[in-house]
Amino acid sequence: MKYLFPTIILLVSYTTIACGQIVFPSPNQVEMQKGNLTLKKSISIYAEDTTAFYLSLFRTEVLRDTPVKWQKKEPGAEICWISDSSLPPEGYQININPRQMIITASDQRGFTHAVQTLRQWVTSPTGSLTFACADITDYPRTQWRCFLLDSGRQYQKISTIKKYIDMASLLKMNYFHWHLTEGLGWRIEIRQYPRLAQIGGAVGKGEEQQGFYTQEEIREVIKYASQRNITVVPEIDMPGHAEAALSAYPELGCFGLPVEVPQHGFTQNIFCAGKDEVLFFLKNVLDEVCSLFPSPYIHLGGDEAPKGNWDECRDCRKRISTLKLKDSHDLQLWFSAQMADYLKQKGRKAIFWGDVVYHDGYPLPDNTVIQWWNYRGHKDLALRNAIKHHYPVICSSNYYTYLNFPLTPWRGYNEARTFDLKDVYLDNPSNKALKEKNSLILGMTCALWTDDGVTERMIDRRLFPRILALAEQMWYQGEALDFTRFHQNILQRKEWFEQMGFKFGPALKSEVKEDYKWD
Ligand code: ACM
Ligand code: ZN
Repeated sequence: MKYLFPTIILLVSYTTIACGQIVFPSPNQVEMQKGNLTLKKSISIYAEDTTAFYLSLFRTEVLRDTPVKWQKKEPGAEICWISDSSLPPEGYQININPRQMIITASDQRGFTHAVQTLRQWVTSPTGSLTFACADITDYPRTQWRCFLLDSGRQYQKISTIKKYIDMASLLKMNYFHWHLTEGLGWRIEIRQYPRLAQIGGAVGKGEEQQGFYTQEEIREVIKYASQRNITVVPEIDMPGHAEAALSAYPELGCFGLPVEVPQHGFTQNIFCAGKDEVLFFLKNVLDEVCSLFPSPYIHLGGDEAPKGNWDECRDCRKRISTLKLKDSHDLQLWFSAQMADYLKQKGRKAIFWGDVVYHDGYPLPDNTVIQWWNYRGHKDLALRNAIKHHYPVICSSNYYTYLNFPLTPWRGYNEARTFDLKDVYLDNPSNKALKEKNSLILGMTCALWTDDGVTERMIDRRLFPRILALAEQMWYQGEALDFTRFHQNILQRKEWFEQMGFKFGPALKSEVKEDYKWD
């Protein structure tokens, strides 16, 4: 009994420090060294540019606002930030010895990733900030690491959008795909067409389905993201998933009739591709989108566009015959090519969902990128066809990157649309595609769609812990840890993520109690 107390203290401090060495996603090379660097009450820092955004992030998130003395030279400083252009893009090194920490990167992206590693590396076993000594060398497996949030079906507050941008940056992702338009909501203010947001932002009838983002708010989000190395890629879905826009401007549909907004799924009501006025309208929308978003990529949707109306519409049929197109699918390709060409003139790339490459036809321009999603429906058809046509591809196969699919059935999600951490870690088709090392495969996006009423309070437990496996696949290039070890690491880090404000759901199907509430 006499020795129990010191033993407990030892165990606690050991596990705290060990936890500091578990970082998500795993750094690619870590060589542990002896000892710790323990910082004092006032910290001396050397940096070439003391105003860089990643230093503010470092001061708030790692140093927790401990006062700092800026040093003019490296040798006297406890923490040094040094540029080295020989490091790979987004790469960084952290060398920690008992007297000093040196952080090296070729650019601010690498420095940001270093900050995100240090957030998890730092411990404070005795109240002072402590870093286990080590040499870390790290750079990403893929150039496209992305989180998609569906703000179309559900509206989230700006503070919630920022929370998930923080999360993406913490997990070393570099893109935030913001799904801003849907049948159930048009969320982006377009000044030339104010009814899009005013009417289109209010067509949902459920909880948290009303609202839109003003251009000022969007600029704030883009700035916030850029200070965390995240590029915001907007998605403006066309021609399908457009019922909210058509409620505001019915003349943009094939028959100019009032539109019913489905509370689930999608309808035949899509933008008409036969009327020049519709293309003119959408190009004007893209003008505003491009002036708001500096992203080199603009997502134009293109998924799930049923052709019933186009097949009946005089204007669509006329377009097909005048241009000698094969059919209404070919008309979608022609329509998509017009929009992608328009973006090309503005120096942007156009991303389309894989539906546009299911059949060959009218050629898409060379600024086209394909996002492969429908593994459940078409296995890797879109991936293969995109590669055949030399389009770059983003992998977001719904098995297993769609994190709105819960672990057990919930509302419209039956058993076939469920998966757990182990499925993601061991069987994700997107991860298997990355192993092909085809230079056309840019990387991976994981998605949180908000179908069936996923409100803000439900998001975290769908993401965590499964998103940690996806972030690992996006970033870590070494051989994967065995699943049991990976799962244990998650359990060790869980409390830390919870302190950061992210609630965890169950990891494994076997853990989900029968009465578990996903809502
Ligand atoms: C999609 O999930 N319909 C892109
Ligand atoms: Zn039409």
